[in-house]
Amino acid sequence: MKIMVIAGSPTAESRTRGIAQFAAETLKQMNVEVLYFDVGIDKLPLFTGDATTAQNETVKKLAEYAEQADGFFVTSPEYHSGISGALKNALDFLGGKHFKNKPSAIAVAAGGGKGGMNALTNLRTVLRGVYSLVLPDQFIADPVNFDEGNVLVDELAQTRVRELTIQLKELTEVVSVNQAK
Ligand SMILES: Cc1cc2nc3c(=O)[nH]c(=O)nc-3n(C[C@H](O)[C@H](O)[C@H](O)COP(=O)(O)O)c2cc1C
Repeated sequence: MKIMVIAGSPTAESRTRGIAQFAAETLKQMNVEVLYFDVGIDKLPLFTGDATTAQNETVKKLAEYAEQADGFFVTSPEYHSGISGALKNALDFLGGKHFKNKPSAIAVAAGGGKGGMNALTNLRTVLRGVYSLVLPDQFIADPVNFDEGNVLVDELAQTRVRELTIQLKELTEVVSVNQAK
């Protein structure tokens, strides 16, 4: 089974990346093959709809990973009550061809003070737009859940991400088995 983990923050020092890396490590420990894509490192051009961008090496990597993936773990920061522009730009290069009937787990890094829910709802809406099967469960990490290096260190937060990865693996197995029939 292959799960694509998408770190959806454009920043160099990123808490979102801390969630994505923890999810990736957890999935690897569960014998899942992880395809890791980080929009803050794998810099994509702006989506314009121009066919020539499909030849861009990073766009190719994004599309190849998404095509191979059986499921997705998608993370974003909450920026102004939505997902990051960088993640939305990445998702605009993809579509139903990549996501249809494939499960997704979603998690967001927020600023504390009860933020994060709007970005989760926004991400859920976008992933529904590409026909992904988004898990009902979801997770928000606050700044206090990370150390100074943006590693997700809080035990409860780690447990919540672990639970999401377990649910994602289970649903991906069920969907893959049924699609193979
Ligand atoms: C432009 C911008 C907008 C933000 N808007 C929100 C917001 O609407 N709600 C919230 O909870 N946090 C907001 N924050 C705080 C970020 O969600 C928080 O710092 C998060 O950890 C950033 O993740 P990152 O380090 O991966 O980019 C905002 C931060 C920035 C830079």
